[in-house]
Amino acid sequence: MPQKPRLFLTRRLPREVMEFLNHHFALDFNDQNRVLTKSEIIDAARDCEALLCLLTDTIDAEVIDALPNLRVISNYAVGFDNIDLDAATSRGIPVCNTPEVLTAATADLTWALILAVSRKVVEADRFVRAGCFQGWDPLLFLGRELSGQTLGIVGMGRIGRAVARRAHGFDLRILYTKRTPLAPEESIPGAVHVDMDVLLREADIVSLHLPYSDQVHHLINDQVLAAMKPQAILINTARGALVDEQALVQSLKRSDISGVGLDVYEYEPAVHPGLVDLDSVVLAPHMGSATEQARVRMGLMAAENALAALTGGQVHSVANPQVFSET
Ligand code: DGY
Repeated sequence: MPQKPRLFLTRRLPREVMEFLNHHFALDFNDQNRVLTKSEIIDAARDCEALLCLLTDTIDAEVIDALPNLRVISNYAVGFDNIDLDAATSRGIPVCNTPEVLTAATADLTWALILAVSRKVVEADRFVRAGCFQGWDPLLFLGRELSGQTLGIVGMGRIGRAVARRAHGFDLRILYTKRTPLAPEESIPGAVHVDMDVLLREADIVSLHLPYSDQVHHLINDQVLAAMKPQAILINTARGALVDEQALVQSLKRSDISGVGLDVYEYEPAVHPGLVDLDSVVLAPHMGSATEQARVRMGLMAAENALAALTGGQVHSVANPQVFSET
């Protein structure tokens, strides 16, 4: 029997995924429920051909260069901004990710945040638990109805489109930004392609759905926040550093916008203390893909990607496909 390829997994994944990995690889994994440091990853993965890592792992040039046998990096996430893509590409190492399988889960969480912020659900929950509920009150926790409002989607990839499709049930008008308008086969009825200025001026809900890169660092800054409607809410389930959190806190304090729902943070897992103090903010712990189904599918896709890359098979998704044509 040929030897199984060696794979290091940086954190335990759901049972079905561990079974698949054990079956196909000589598996070693971090059994502690914490993020490993770079030097721990280097030590543990030194002899491995495959690295299955998480978005919380920093896989930079130092790590990649310290793993001489490495032939594939498979990220358990759709985003791969934790990996130095150029360093991997220059060594001919494919970087794989897990799109599609978490689209529905992330779109659902986006809606959970839109509803929670618009209807003050979390603040109301705290109120009831604190024993403050004294009976029905005509002025208690008045929120804003979604029907008739305008949803502005920044970045109309898979997740943006899934969020837009769900908007129809709430009778929302939909605007979106994207480098080019959606192709006819992807188009969402009623969704209108606009530039960022129009979206900011007209949207009551601004929801971010674009991948992070240096080019979009602090896309949502002081100026952008000032251009939004005072009753607007901002939702971010993409990546924290798209938003300048310091500017966000100031704009909420000035009432430039009315509320925020965040699943991701600029200095994750740290959360800006100014956000924690504000009732108009709903905070989630980066759980967009946290459904049982999505996490199993992500794991299986990441494992299959690693296996395919090592055995000359077809990977589901690779961020630097040029490495295959170069070999
Ligand atoms: C991803 O896959 O990039 C998500 O942020 C994980 O929830």
